[in-house]
Amino acid sequence: MKIRPRRLRANELVRSIVRESRLAKECLVQPLFVTDANAGEIKSMPGQHRFDVNKVGGEAKRIFDCGVKAVMLFGIPKKKDPDGNGAYEKNGIVQRAVKGIKKAVPRLMVITDVCLCQYTDHGHCGIVQGGRIANDRTVEVLAKTAVSHIEAGADMVAPSAMMDGQVSAIREALDGAGYQDIPIMSYSSKYASAFYEPFREAAESTPKFGDRKSYQMDTSNVREAMKEINIDIDEGADIVMVKPAIPYLDVIASARRRFDVPLAAYSVSGEYSMVKAAAKNGWLDEKNVVLEMLTAIRRAGADIIITYFAKDAAVWLNGRK
Ligand code: PBG
Repeated sequence: MKIRPRRLRANELVRSIVRESRLAKECLVQPLFVTDANAGEIKSMPGQHRFDVNKVGGEAKRIFDCGVKAVMLFGIPKKKDPDGNGAYEKNGIVQRAVKGIKKAVPRLMVITDVCLCQYTDHGHCGIVQGGRIANDRTVEVLAKTAVSHIEAGADMVAPSAMMDGQVSAIREALDGAGYQDIPIMSYSSKYASAFYEPFREAAESTPKFGDRKSYQMDTSNVREAMKEINIDIDEGADIVMVKPAIPYLDVIASARRRFDVPLAAYSVSGEYSMVKAAAKNGWLDEKNVVLEMLTAIRRAGADIIITYFAKDAAVWLNGRK
């Protein structure tokens, strides 16, 4: 008898029946930027736009029509202040965008990013006190912000500030406001990554001083990521996240092995922009590279993938034989 693994690679029919990881449109989430000041294409992220809050419904409909079921919403407000109070305004940018999207496409799931960095004038994810990020004061504002997003009609909140106790505070605030059924997707292990650079241009959220290393995780650590995820599950997170994705596939795989809850991975702006730049130069085939990357994230163990390629990937998957 000869050992012949190639038998199961002989043609697409047999390859497809033994395939271990599958990419489906249903697992993709498209991030969306909304603004009422500075709409237009994002230079560092070709193909991605800051959408006028009054017109975002149209894009939401296009996304839904491609087969993507969920968006992750980021707001870019006109006004900022030291404490990020704009984040929970009743008629704030995200709150209005949620209403517009839900009106245009009621069946599209709207997940909102809950953080202060777009709303603080210094660009940090929390309130600064004596040169440091004040954890507990920030958590209070995050909880109010989460409730305001749900009041506006969002389906799920995704806290991303990396403050201690943010998940339990948000859970308590939601429950207190009667939103016991609203799930929390926590950015549990969010690294202090250099891959967020294009996003900060898009969201105008670059910190004016210092960096985010006192709250986002050290890029060398994996045990610490497991600890953060564990804490978030204890605090009531329904879905946990690893971010970025491609440079952190080992973290996704460890989390998958260890925790029996839905796992999301956020393939961030830098991952998008690298592929776009190489594709523009003719150095990579965009479609094949993107589908391979997204499949790799699934193979590592993610159930949900947040990616700027969601809409394009859905179209490509629709066209697959
Ligand atoms: C806000 C937030 C960031 C990203 C998602 N939510 C920026 C940051 O932490 O600096 C990054 C997303 C991306 O790069 O695509 N806290």
